[in-house]
Amino acid sequence: MRPPLTSYQSRIESELARVRESGHHRTLRVIDSPQGPIVKTHDGDKINFCSNDYLGLANHPRLRSAAIDAMDRYGLGSGASQLVSGRSGAHVSLEEKLCEFTGRDRAILFSTGYQANLSIATVLSLGRNGEIVEDRLNHASLIDGAKLSGSRLRRYRHKDVSSLEEMLSQSKHKQMLVLTDTVFSMDGDIAPLKEIAAISARHAALFCVDDAHALGVLGEGGRGALEEFKLSQTDVPVMVGTFGKALGCFGAFAAGTDPIIEFLVQKARPFIYTTALPATICAAVEAALGLLREEAWRREQLFDRINYLRTCARDVCLPLGDSRTPIQPLIVGSAANACALSEGLYSDGIFVAAIRPPTVPLGTSRLRITLSSSHSREHIDRLIAALLRQRKFWQR
Ligand SMILES: Cc1ncc(COP(=O)(O)O)c(C=O)c1O
Repeated sequence: MRPPLTSYQSRIESELARVRESGHHRTLRVIDSPQGPIVKTHDGDKINFCSNDYLGLANHPRLRSAAIDAMDRYGLGSGASQLVSGRSGAHVSLEEKLCEFTGRDRAILFSTGYQANLSIATVLSLGRNGEIVEDRLNHASLIDGAKLSGSRLRRYRHKDVSSLEEMLSQSKHKQMLVLTDTVFSMDGDIAPLKEIAAISARHAALFCVDDAHALGVLGEGGRGALEEFKLSQTDVPVMVGTFGKALGCFGAFAAGTDPIIEFLVQKARPFIYTTALPATICAAVEAALGLLREEAWRREQLFDRINYLRTCARDVCLPLGDSRTPIQPLIVGSAANACALSEGLYSDGIFVAAIRPPTVPLGTSRLRITLSSSHSREHIDRLIAALLRQRKFWQR
């Protein structure tokens, strides 16, 4: 006989107790204002150093009015998946703009980056005949997609091209898919993309990148890591970009060769079986692409703030990780330490969430400090001063 439902629930409660004891329990904080350098919380205003709104576009008037105009024309909900009746002129127009922006032949929109990455891994690995080889520190969605795909999954040492090459040369699979984040989401460091592209080509593996944290940030025109590294569609036949970070919106896309994108449209379950992005979002993303072109000062200001933070950190021996992107990790070791540091800063008016396992490897809990062009230098001075008051949690 099955145990009663109450015993199922008590099992869940004891699992929850275990999560709490391990220091990995997560809480949901509520923000009562738009995203920006300062946010309103139930505990007062805080300087926000944990948003991915790298260019300060999440509440930009031009994005808001583009969304409102699209709402007047298309309404709010998209009503169905893109393959049924959810695809509007705003979707088509954004895809065209993304092709121009990325220099890729064709693009397709996804409702989230998570779904885009699940799609890439499940569809392009070609199931049981394929093998997926990916960086150990890739975003969870690329790892989850690989697990779901039925293909063999191998994870090479972080940014280690010899480990990648060894795995590709050992593989007995007919098809191999190489996946990497361009900018790693928890460390802010950058994958050796040119080398990975060359190795993938040598082994006839399909190379795909997730450019979530580089799009809008890296490259002369803010076109992302592939622009910075001058990698063409031949080098990287398919890429994923997201709209929820530097572009200040929500959603994602994949861009690449026509057959790859068509194959995703035909086969990707996270594309087929989900409601389309609202047209309002598509219009706002298109406005954000326009601002990237017109307002290069945002990127310049962002890099000024990154350099300023790193200089201040060096002056006070704050051990930030090695990163030249808006993601500046402060690794403090235990989950308890990271939580105590985050809470101490929060009481002092600074909002930086603690990042703990399983998001990062055990013993590398951290504050993932993120910068935006909308931060002033004074905001950074206040962060440094608050960190100095909490130095017992990070001083080595
Ligand atoms: C590298 C990376 N890829 C993909 C995603 C998922 O994107 P989305 O938030 O649009 O689901 C994230 C985080 O959100 C990310 O950091």
